Amino acid sequence: MRHFTWSPEHEVFIAQIDAEHRDLFQIAEGLEQTMEAHAPSADIKEHLQALTAHLEDHFSHEEWLMQSVSYPSYGWHKQQHDTARRRLKLFAPLIEGGDAEAADVFLEFLAGWMQDHTGVTDRMMAAFVRNYERSHATDAFERWGAPSRSGGGLRVRTAAATADVGPFPKTMRFCKVCGDQTTHEIRARGLACVKCAERSVSADLDRD
Ligand SMILES: [Fe+2]
Repeated sequence: MRHFTWSPEHEVFIAQIDAEHRDLFQIAEGLEQTMEAHAPSADIKEHLQALTAHLEDHFSHEEWLMQSVSYPSYGWHKQQHDTARRRLKLFAPLIEGGDAEAADVFLEFLAGWMQDHTGVTDRMMAAFVRNYERSHATDAFERWGAPSRSGGGLRVRTAAATADVGPFPKTMRFCKVCGDQTTHEIRARGLACVKCAERSVSADLDRD
């Protein structure tokens, strides 16, 4: 029995990435249980396909995120993703064909990879992304004036701060307003979803 259970020690403190990691652990655990129960090959195939699809979506998302903030260790990080991609591609047909030993070797690899990758590599990436977003929000405060609260709503001090002055640095998040995974502009008042209305602040830089 391996440990595919997500725990707070895997948290990277970007809500969307953490949600994707939780799903990944759950899917991997499901695959392990299916194989241990000697389930029909159709069930195993279904779990493997779910794992492949989720891994690709998740890796693509992280790689987009890293590129959007010009992450300096992008190549090193992507290399680890590519290792997992290649390993899965190599082992999936063997596992689907009922090779129990191959399944064992692959699950052992995956458990260790997920532990190391989320605990170190993803945490480093997330720290850089959070820092990048905070630093650009600070730049925006300095350029356009800090938002101030008046009349119960969020107002900005200067006319320039309300103008669509760009280009804004970009990052990728789940939008709390439209619910989609979208590009967000980093503005003085927070992250703004490009798909939503101008004033929709969709993520909180300090809490996310
Ligand atoms: Fe990653």
